Order: sequence, then structure tokens, then C-alpha cells
Amino acid sequence: MRSTIRSRLDDILTRYRLGEDIAAILVDFHAEASSEKMALGHFADGRVSAVFGTHSHVPTADAQILPGGTAYISDAGMCGDYDSVIGMKKEIAVQRFIKKMPGERLAPAEGEGTLCAAVVETDDRTGLAKSVRPLRLGGRLPPTA
Ligand SMILES: [Fe+2]
Repeated sequence: MRSTIRSRLDDILTRYRLGEDIAAILVDFHAEASSEKMALGHFADGRVSAVFGTHSHVPTADAQILPGGTAYISDAGMCGDYDSVIGMKKEIAVQRFIKKMPGERLAPAEGEGTLCAAVVETDDRTGLAKSVRPLRLGGRLPPTA
């Protein structure tokens, strides 16, 4: 976790206190490494309602409430066509990897999209998470219940 992110989050959470000044705080951590996302989740645990990772485009199976009461998921997934390479037309993306050259410009895949999300319920008094669950609707990925 980069120190600038840590100190910036500390600054913000000093000004806005969960359950006192503000009803809920969601941190969308747009990052590559799941280790970095997990570290930030534990760093913020008990001070924010939820830490949701984004960027990988692939929903992870680790939705949970951390010990301090913060909902967490390493990646909520994307809203897009999963018959693709992270939402882009697979033919173009595959050729880029095979040829190791930029080639044709990437374009969004146009099949039926899957909506991926995480749903969190917070406690009205504390702002901490009462429940968290992944949500997947439509498209190619199996739907959540
Ligand atoms: Fe991204």
C-alpha cells in the first residue's frame, strides 16, 4: 500500500467519522494487486462501511465482513460482456498477445452484459456493515441467488 494512499485516507477519515458525521463510507480501491487491496481493507477496517476492489474486471469470491465491521471484496467485477478479454472484443485482444504488437484498436465486446456488484447493508447507528454479498445478473456468469 502506497504511503500517499494511507496518509490521504487517514486525512479523510479524521475529518469524516463514520457513525458520527456520516452514515456510510464506501472506499472503491482501483488497484491491480489483491494483496494491496486486502491490506487497505484491514487498514480501514472499523473506520469505513466497505472497501470494494475494482480494476481486475473479475469478481472474486471473498466477500466478507472483516473483524472490525467493514465489508470487503477484493474485486466486485465488471458490468460488461464476459465473452471477451476484460470486456473488450476477444479476437483483437488475443491477436495483441500473440503478435506482441498493439495492432487493431481495442473495442468493447457487444454481447449480453453481466452486471457485477457487491451489496452491503449498513447499521444505521454505527455505519458499519451488517451484511455483504456479491451480485451477478444477466450475461454469461452464473447469477447469484
Ligand atoms: Fe482499471
